[in-house]
Amino acid sequence: MTDRTAGSPQAPRAPQATVIEISADSAEALRRRAVESLTTARARTALLTSCVDDHDLTAQHSPLMSPLVWDLAHIGNQEEQWLLRNVGGGDALRPEIDSVYDAFEHPRSERPTLPLLAPAEARAYASDVRGRVLDIIERAPLTGGGGRLLDAGFAFGMIAQHEQQHDETMLITHQLRKGPAALTAPEPPAGDVTGLPAEVLVPAGRFTMGTTAEPWALDNERPAHQRLVPAFFIDTVPVTNGDYLRFVEDGGYTDERWWAPEGWAQIREHGIGAPQFWRREAGQWLRRRFGTVEPVPMDEPVLHVSWYEADAYARWAGRRLPSEEEWEKAARWDPATGRSLRFPWGDEEPTQEHANLGQRHLRPAPVGSYPRGASPLGVRQLIGDVWEWTSSDFLPYPGFVAFPYREYSEVFFGSAHKVLRGGSFAVDSVACRGTFRNWDLPVRRQIFAGFRTARDAAPGEGA
Ligand code: AVJ
Ligand code: FE
Repeated sequence: MTDRTAGSPQAPRAPQATVIEISADSAEALRRRAVESLTTARARTALLTSCVDDHDLTAQHSPLMSPLVWDLAHIGNQEEQWLLRNVGGGDALRPEIDSVYDAFEHPRSERPTLPLLAPAEARAYASDVRGRVLDIIERAPLTGGGGRLLDAGFAFGMIAQHEQQHDETMLITHQLRKGPAALTAPEPPAGDVTGLPAEVLVPAGRFTMGTTAEPWALDNERPAHQRLVPAFFIDTVPVTNGDYLRFVEDGGYTDERWWAPEGWAQIREHGIGAPQFWRREAGQWLRRRFGTVEPVPMDEPVLHVSWYEADAYARWAGRRLPSEEEWEKAARWDPATGRSLRFPWGDEEPTQEHANLGQRHLRPAPVGSYPRGASPLGVRQLIGDVWEWTSSDFLPYPGFVAFPYREYSEVFFGSAHKVLRGGSFAVDSVACRGTFRNWDLPVRRQIFAGFRTARDAAPGEGA
């Protein structure tokens, strides 16, 4: 299901891509994948909503976030709307709650005041919906004839991704929650940067961006199309806490030269002088992470910085953020074949050897880990660990078609939101791939985001 580049790299072509046929998975394999993806998501949802008491489930831990119990019932309600009513053609189970769980009707800050289902009720509702969905999966035609929503089990994949996205959102709420730790996980593998170059050259030329072939890709990743990208260099690994600390200690937060005007205004107004959750105590930098205070680990990718902070750091370092097309070319382009891979390491699904995904660890892995996750050009840790801010606004690709609803992507297109790529330790593999696009406001810091930097290649340097 790799998206292929067609034609010679130098010939100017229309922005179009050849779509290759993917071997039709059997209905049985698609059913299994749908059930497994939904089951994995529910296990994570259950953990995130059972490790704290009812008070913590209904409280608002930050005006930026919903109460956890809102996410729980919203997960069930989206599943009811798409899989029971739409795909299953069934009657509404609880039509009266649709409006309470409509993300567009109620901003996060006002959700605690809504007549929310109580925790036990929300759990029972989500599980009732799920039981009926499992019956629908058994009967649904997934290999054609059921319409586009059902083709290759798309609707089930979309809802599994939706639940996993809210599981990441709920983990962010856990990070913002005050009080002792409720979650634990093993430490990620060690890293070793010995012998790694600081940056990697991505030569000039066309590559295939986005995807048409990936069955569960969401609308904003589509369609596959050609992009001509000038030569550039990109950091081999994400910017670390140690790197970022040099910017902090060099007075980066008090020097207006490095900052976009809106970013400068934000750090002045809120007295920001370091990444969120950091504090300096007795000459040491500490951070709060899921209820535990620990020394800032210097070899870990920096986390909880806004787009403005990433942009200012890059300018201070004499560099810039990569655009999202640069990020995707560094991640997917295989110089040996000219094709774009599904993941940096190839077309196979992520394993524990490739990337830090799925809340298996509750922190990014140190830089220099996951050697098997390297892209063909040798760029590391592109998938997992931290979402990476790019310089790009969230815009549709040429030929974009909203599917199956405008409110997933289309209403967010424009210059207000910046694109993030690659996924974090908190994202599940079902909602992460080389083409996956996330977006947020450039002021946001609570998300699991860091970044890497880039620079133009000078003529003679590969341009
Ligand atoms: C793609 C992560 C920006 O959380 O707002 C969840 C995903 N869309 N429910 C979000 C989403 C609808 C979305 N992001
Ligand atoms: Fe949602």
